[in-house]
Amino acid sequence: MTGVWDDDVVEAADVRASSAPAGITETQDGPGMPAALETVPETAPETALETVPEPVPGGPALAVSSRGRDKGAVVTPSERPGEALLPAPSEDDAVFEICDLSIDYGLGPGALHAVRHADLMLRRGRVLGLAGESGSGKSTLVYGATRLLRQPGVVSGGSVRLYSRRRGEEGRVVDLLAASERELRRIRWSEISVVLQSALNALNPVSTIESEFDDVLKAHRREMSRKTRRERAAELLTMVGINADRLRDHPHELSGGQRQRVMIALALALEPQVVIMDEPTTALDVVTQREIIEELIGLRDRLGFAMLFITHDLSLLIELADEIAVMYAGRIVERAGASTLYRSPRHPYTHGLLNSFPPMHGETRRMTGIPGSPPDLAAVPAGCAFRPRCLYAMERCGTEAPALVPLDGEEHEAACFLHSGDVAVPGELAR
Ligand SMILES: Nc1ncnc2c1ncn2[C@@H]1O[C@H](COP(=O)(O)OP(=O)(O)OP(=O)(O)O)[C@@H](O)[C@H]1O
Ligand code: SF4
Ligand SMILES: [Mg+2]
Repeated sequence: MTGVWDDDVVEAADVRASSAPAGITETQDGPGMPAALETVPETAPETALETVPEPVPGGPALAVSSRGRDKGAVVTPSERPGEALLPAPSEDDAVFEICDLSIDYGLGPGALHAVRHADLMLRRGRVLGLAGESGSGKSTLVYGATRLLRQPGVVSGGSVRLYSRRRGEEGRVVDLLAASERELRRIRWSEISVVLQSALNALNPVSTIESEFDDVLKAHRREMSRKTRRERAAELLTMVGINADRLRDHPHELSGGQRQRVMIALALALEPQVVIMDEPTTALDVVTQREIIEELIGLRDRLGFAMLFITHDLSLLIELADEIAVMYAGRIVERAGASTLYRSPRHPYTHGLLNSFPPMHGETRRMTGIPGSPPDLAAVPAGCAFRPRCLYAMERCGTEAPALVPLDGEEHEAACFLHSGDVAVPGELAR
């Protein structure tokens, strides 16, 4: 089975991290990884050794912000590489945090900048949606953040942290980009699981569904007997709405929707704190898509995992996510709580995306779409990358790239000069 965490892929990522050719980055500390990924700070806050309490259910809804955390107060060196004891719990209760992440394909001046300075924060038990058209860098972000990136992909800057808090264990921080292969093996499946975009065809065609579950459980729960593993596999399959007698089936005997449900059950098998789903339902018909989304919401409510859900379908995210980040040409251009984003998009691209997909509920409205197509990331226009498609573009947009800035306090951010305060904001982007 190759769809969720693939040992071979992770090993390839490690090779990339440790032996990238010379000239791969401009950092002083060696090729392949920026200085920030190699070490953790020497100093730590006094609270660094505190034990972390169990999660508090029903926290605030907003899941993403890079500014709420004290990034300097994160880690202290520990015996295991890439891991440190957790500091005092923070207000935002992050479980997975991506800071200033940049990812390129290729090297030097010809490199394609697929992800630029991305910040995302996923909070415990919440759903963070990542939306954007094809080629905007969504999957690359996931590959880079989870060490699944293959050559010629290179993480050229930033950091990724897992704030682990398992029942009965002391809380700790894992610096994912610096973690050893051993540490990665320990956390994949059991703390973070990833369902990749191609997961629908990822089950091994010559294995039964039962042996897929058995492989995962045997590798990570050595104490489990064969009988217990079989019972757990049946329980997991039932949990995603498939009769347990299908355990004996091979993947080709299942429908696309059932195969995707199996992938989801596998991702949840070890009760990870973070589940990343990259377009898990895109290849399915809308009815099956809706059933699976409803099931995912139910499972999240029951099991309490945090989920990063990626899709190009913004209307789907409005239904599913607590918070949404919108990506365009490798950059996050807007983020807000899901209902805020739906009611008052502030970036012209988000506004266009919302008018490109019919809402899953509520009034029907005329779909207008977005003129033009996304830029080739090898030749992104100067200034704001959205300018060639933007109805509101100004002179300044051709020379300067807008930064992602807060609009209404911490909870809504957009990267657009329309909100810089010196021009009249069009009504549809001003609410
Ligand atoms: N292995 C690769 N080598 C070179 N360029 C790549 C590679 N993989 C992806 N890219 C480029 O990186 C950019 C981002 O691709 P990515 O697959 O992350 O986009 P995406 O948002 O996930 O798109 P989709 O919605 O189609 O899945 C694209 O321009 C793509 O052509
Ligand atoms: S910065 Fe300019 S071009 Fe970019 S989205 Fe805003 S108005 Fe449009
Ligand atoms: Mg993708």
